[in-house]
This record gives sequence, structure tokens and C-alpha cells, in this order.
Amino acid sequence: MAPAPESWTILKILRWTTDYFTTKGVSEPRTSAEVLLAHSLGLTRLDLYLRYDQPLNQEELARFKALVLRRAQGEPVAYLTGHREFWSLDFHVTSAVLIPRPETETLVAAALEAAKDFKPDKKITPLEAHPGTQNPEPETPTFWGLEIGVGSGAIVITLARELPYTAWVAVDLSAAALAVAQDNASRLGVADRIRFLRGDLLAGLRPESRFALLAANLPYVPRAEWERLPRDIKDFEPRQALWGGEDGLSLIRVLVRQAHEYLMKGGWVLLEVGDGQAPQVATLLQQTEAYDRVETIKDFNGIERVVRARRSDGAG
Ligand SMILES: C[S@@+](CC[C@H](N)C(=O)[O-])C[C@H]1O[C@@H](n2cnc3c(N)ncnc32)[C@H](O)[C@@H]1O
Repeated sequence: MAPAPESWTILKILRWTTDYFTTKGVSEPRTSAEVLLAHSLGLTRLDLYLRYDQPLNQEELARFKALVLRRAQGEPVAYLTGHREFWSLDFHVTSAVLIPRPETETLVAAALEAAKDFKPDKKITPLEAHPGTQNPEPETPTFWGLEIGVGSGAIVITLARELPYTAWVAVDLSAAALAVAQDNASRLGVADRIRFLRGDLLAGLRPESRFALLAANLPYVPRAEWERLPRDIKDFEPRQALWGGEDGLSLIRVLVRQAHEYLMKGGWVLLEVGDGQAPQVATLLQQTEAYDRVETIKDFNGIERVVRARRSDGAG
């Protein structure tokens, strides 16, 4: 196709869009413009820098313009492109799931450290177990883990990939979220080691189930913070993935009451929490008297982001 009459080049349109986004109060205007333009053109951001003088044709302009208008209304970039990177993996996202956050990588790192207690690498090599495949038999994992509130699958899929001899149960209340997570698990090669289950917290699990790890990033936004959330979040991400009731801890409180009953002796529960919630959540865990260690872990901003606790040998 012929270039547009105005002969918009990549550099020209990036400058124009950055200014437009700035006037519309869009966060990270230049990055938003670059990511959306690269997506529209099927290029990487680096490609854009190398082709600043390349003109856009009408079709490319129209595709980009549609995304720019949606972004100006606050729609998050990840929903517009359908992708978000987490732990250097490419996750598909739709508006049915929370966009995975970088701080959630703190929970993944804390879970990987806790998993060492269960010697997750003690099995024979997967290639010996299964010629031609990277995956071990799901029936013979080193241990089973559980994630409650799986969303896009960022946590459980990353853990399954990092711990190739483990198997997982992944629960969410939202069928639409589970479909996204299932698709990500297939694309990222771990679908055979994750059982997806629709359910309310622990209600759908067999009472005799025992897990080595239980990870959850449940909704934890309290009422006082809800109105202050940026529109990108409040108007676009699922309320069911964010709203944590009056003090933000409604769901976490219910989970903590029961979590230890689903843990093996020495098993770990790991909870992501909001800024300032860690002391309260640590107290809730201690009050169950089921844990011999309760620890708080900070994220890269120095915020206490994860509370984890180990079920004592004597409990239950
Ligand atoms: C904060 S999002 C976390 C998503 C993903 N694990 C992540 O870290 O990006 C919370 C998830 O919990 C799910 N959820 C909310 N209430 C739930 C409940 N009662 N039982 C199970 N899942 C629930 C939501 O649908 C949402 O997918």
C-alpha cells in the first residue's frame, strides 16, 4: 500500500502519539506509544529505533489509531496487545484476568526457595524417564503444589516450569480466567502437570489432599484504596481479581483459616499481600498455631509483599 498522504514516519507518529497520550493523562506515554506501534506493525521496539524513517501505510495507520484511541481511554497496554511478560515468559492476557505484576515475581522466588525443602530435583532426569520429552510423568511428581486464584496462570505456570518434577492444582472462581490460564499452560509446555479446577478458595478440593506448597495472590485492595486506584486498573481489570473487602483481607482471612489443613507437614503457604498488610497476615497465620516459621519477604521496592509460613511437624 502507498504511504499515507501526510507521510507519517515511525518517528513522527511516535512523537505525536507521546504528546497526545501526555495530554490525555496516559501513564508512561512514550512506552505505551512504542509498544502499541510495534504491535501494530508486527515489529519489536528495537526494530522501531532502527526504522525511524519508515513511512506507515493507511492500513497500518488505521490499526494503530484504533489502539491509540483505546489507550487514551485508559485501557491497559497489555489488554490491547494481548501479552504481558512475567519471569521472562510471554503470557497471553485478556480482560478476564489480572495483568501479572512484576512484584508477584517476589512470590515466585519465595516459593522456589521454600520448594528446596522438598528436594524438587531429586528424580531421575526427565529425558531418562521420558525419551523425547522434557516433562516427567505427571503421575509421579516429587510433590504436588496448589495455587488459589490463578488468573492468567503466571504463578503456577512459572513454578511448574522452574520445578520440572512437580505437579500442580490451580483453582480460580472465574471460568474465563481458567481458560486463559489453560491456554498459557499449553503454550508454555506445562499443561500436563497442572490440573485446573473451578472453585471457591479450597472448597472444591478433596479434604484428604495434602500439598507441599500453597501459593495465593488473592484480591487484597481495601475499600479505602479502591476509589484511588488508577482508571487503567479500576475500570478495566476484573473487580473479582482486586476487591478484597473492607480491609482488603476478606479472602485471605478465610484462606488462612483452612490452609494448614491442606498442607503436608513441613509444607509452606505463601501469600502475596498489599502494602502494610503483612504484619496483620503474619498474625493471622500465627494465630492458627499450625506453623513453626512465619516470614515476611520484601519486593524490589522494599515493600513487605509476601508472607510465608511453614506447617510445623506436630500440627494436625
Ligand atoms: C489478584 S488476581 C491474581 C491472578 C494471578 N495469580 C496473578 O498473580 O497474576 C486474583 C485471582 O483470584 C481469583 N479469585 C477471586 N476470588 C476467588 C475465590 N473466592 N476463589 C478462587 N479464586 C478467586 C480471581 O478470579 C483472580 O483471578
